[in-house]
Amino acid sequence: MAHNIAALGGDGIGPEVVREGLKVLAAVAETAGFEYQVEEYPYGTDHYLETGVILPDGMMDTFRKDFEAILLGAIGDPRVEVGLIERGIIGAIRWDLDLYVNLRPIKLYHERFCPLKDKTPADVDMVFVRENTEDAYAGMHGFVHKGSPLEVSTQTMVYTREGVERVIRYAFEIAKDRERKQITMIDKANAVRAQDLWTRTFAEVGEEYPDIKQDHAYVDAACMWMVKNPEWFDVAVTTNLFGDIITDLGAMVQGGMGIAASGNIRPGEVSMFESIHGSAPKYKDQNKANPIATIAAVQMMLDHLGEKDGARMLDTALMNLLSGDRIKSMSAGAHGTDELGDMVVKEVHRLGE
Ligand SMILES: NC(=O)c1ccc[n+]([C@@H]2O[C@H](COP(=O)([O-])OP(=O)(O)OC[C@H]3O[C@@H](n4cnc5c(N)ncnc54)[C@H](O)[C@@H]3O)[C@@H](O)[C@H]2O)c1
Repeated sequence: MAHNIAALGGDGIGPEVVREGLKVLAAVAETAGFEYQVEEYPYGTDHYLETGVILPDGMMDTFRKDFEAILLGAIGDPRVEVGLIERGIIGAIRWDLDLYVNLRPIKLYHERFCPLKDKTPADVDMVFVRENTEDAYAGMHGFVHKGSPLEVSTQTMVYTREGVERVIRYAFEIAKDRERKQITMIDKANAVRAQDLWTRTFAEVGEEYPDIKQDHAYVDAACMWMVKNPEWFDVAVTTNLFGDIITDLGAMVQGGMGIAASGNIRPGEVSMFESIHGSAPKYKDQNKANPIATIAAVQMMLDHLGEKDGARMLDTALMNLLSGDRIKSMSAGAHGTDELGDMVVKEVHRLGE
């Protein structure tokens, strides 16, 4: 049966990188031999400014019932209130579809993409599992006496036992299938005492996985280790806020915002795949954005769809391309967006010969 995929280009560079992602998807489907259909949706800031609608009523039910996966470009535009469309689309999809895992592989394809001295692909190969629905992002915030000298603002870090346990368990399952079988929990439980729930849950779930090496780092130390000894990490599990921040550091260690991908996952149900970068409005419509991150998100999407051969093929195509010397740099403008998409398509076709 054909897979049903929803695509949202969104804002800024989003439509350009999604176009390349879909181009590569078509090449992999043809080569690996599976069928799919894509429904493209226009939601984003332009659509909002034209219609006043961020996402139409019933859209979540449509995603849930009619699709296996969503491919997202990026959301965010300086013409509207900060975070309005991001919360209304990315946040809404994560929360309403309960996509509780944010999976972020951090893999260095070639040492010349790494800003750290003497680090090679063998040193940078880790997977971050970021909780995706709770923490400071749960939406419990407010202001009193706004605009006055007495103003108070609060935002609550929300953790539920169920929310913490399911994401920790997911991370252990990932670690189980990896060669090194090591997991690190990253938190700040020494200062943020609410995170003691993470400490206890990690220890309890960990008892079910005696073969997995388990350790712990406070988030400030984890940032230091990411730069000093990235080889220390295999699988890491952390809170929504810390995961958001530390994986941008991870993106730089693997070569920049143009390469880092993520999956917003609810196992076995509709899930969303995207780059970790934003809409980079300054590069919109200039054919300068690097689409590799979105193409890597397509690779994660194929894995979710159960198209394991296609996923492996695309991973090999990316590895072949990025470990060679054809790509000068991962930075915006080093190559055309469409040029990079074409290079990946060519690699995929070569693998099919
Ligand atoms: N998931 C998302 O859609 C998402 C994520 C982060 C930020 N945002 C939104 O995006 C907007 C811009 O945010 P920002 O400037 O903080 O972050 P950004 O990731 O959009 O851009 C930061 C910088 O990273 C580089 N960059 C990003 N994507 C690139 C690519 N594909 N190729 C090459 N270089 C790339 C550019 O130098 C860019 O200036 C904001 O509205 C923000 O809220 C959206």
